[in-house]
Amino acid sequence: MRILSGMQPSGIAHLGNYLGAMRQHIERTKNEQNECFYFLANYHALTTVKDKKKLEEMTLNLAMDYIALGIDNDNTAFFKQSDVPEHTELCWIFNCITHMGFLERAHAWKDAKEKGKKEMSAGLFIYPILQAADILIYKPNLVPVGQDQKQHIEMSRDIAEKFNQTWGETFPLPEPLIEKSVAVVPGTDGEKMSKSYGNTIEMFAEEKVLKSQVMTIKTDSTPLESPKNPDTCNVFKLYKLLATESEIKLMRENYLKGGYGYGHAKTTLFEKILEYFQDAREKRKKLENNKNYVEEVLKKGALKARKVAEQTIKEVREKCGL
Ligand code: ADP
Ligand code: TRP
Repeated sequence: MRILSGMQPSGIAHLGNYLGAMRQHIERTKNEQNECFYFLANYHALTTVKDKKKLEEMTLNLAMDYIALGIDNDNTAFFKQSDVPEHTELCWIFNCITHMGFLERAHAWKDAKEKGKKEMSAGLFIYPILQAADILIYKPNLVPVGQDQKQHIEMSRDIAEKFNQTWGETFPLPEPLIEKSVAVVPGTDGEKMSKSYGNTIEMFAEEKVLKSQVMTIKTDSTPLESPKNPDTCNVFKLYKLLATESEIKLMRENYLKGGYGYGHAKTTLFEKILEYFQDAREKRKKLENNKNYVEEVLKKGALKARKVAEQTIKEVREKCGL
């Protein structure tokens, strides 16, 4: 099974990114039957990040997050998108068969327009085409992503079909893989956890910062001694995504019996996050002092990825008459 996914280095990784996307990326690398391609989508990040230092830093940080979580396996190519320029070549060819009307229907573009975003660049407009190129160039079977990326995968399928109709059968249609149990991870305010809403919990933050993020989770005003409803509480919702069956059962009982405050629940959640990410946090600290190693992993990954990307581009050029 060939598996592919990408993540934009456009901010600090948070529990929503991990539970919605990164966790399944890493899980898939553990099956030796799988051949995995995972990349840091820095060309995509360029649509929003224009500060050179910031982009470099965020790319390296996200690379360290992934490596600390265990992505670097023999059956995996982990790389920077910009180290495989074939992605942008294929994007150009797809540009030539994609209608403007099709792109105008993209949620992300419509949202940006409605919100009156300042910079409506051509790059932002063709964002889904570059994503289609990222995916199709490796002809993967499965693309594990969060729920919000579903439309982009559907658009990639449409673009693949258009190419196949125009120049002959070339690209198999990729399937999205969305972990239903964690479709949307709530942030500290109960809305979708997202960098752009300032409601994130960052699993690699310093302990103090992490604790203060957990402590700001919004709860209702039920008094300490009263029974509480776990199913409407954001603390419990997050705990459920990380804890074991028996730990979840215990917290549920504590909520229902009363005399258990939200402060208790938050402390338990904070400790759970520390425990869950303990190994990764330690590994991440060591990587901070060994950035050359991180660069090497990415270079090695790019070499692997390029072998496949070059083959596809050769085939595409021939089919198109280039
Ligand atoms: P953000 O909203 O913080 O900018 P991104 O859009 O960069 O995050 O998302 C990167 C990946 O993480 C995507 O695959 C997305 O589906 C997933 N993801 C982000 N936030 C969440 C969330 N709150 N719940 C589930 N998945 C999420
Ligand atoms: N658009 C994706 C996101 O914001 C990142 C991405 C770029 C991607 N290219 C991809 C995801 C290819 C999956 C496949 O999360």
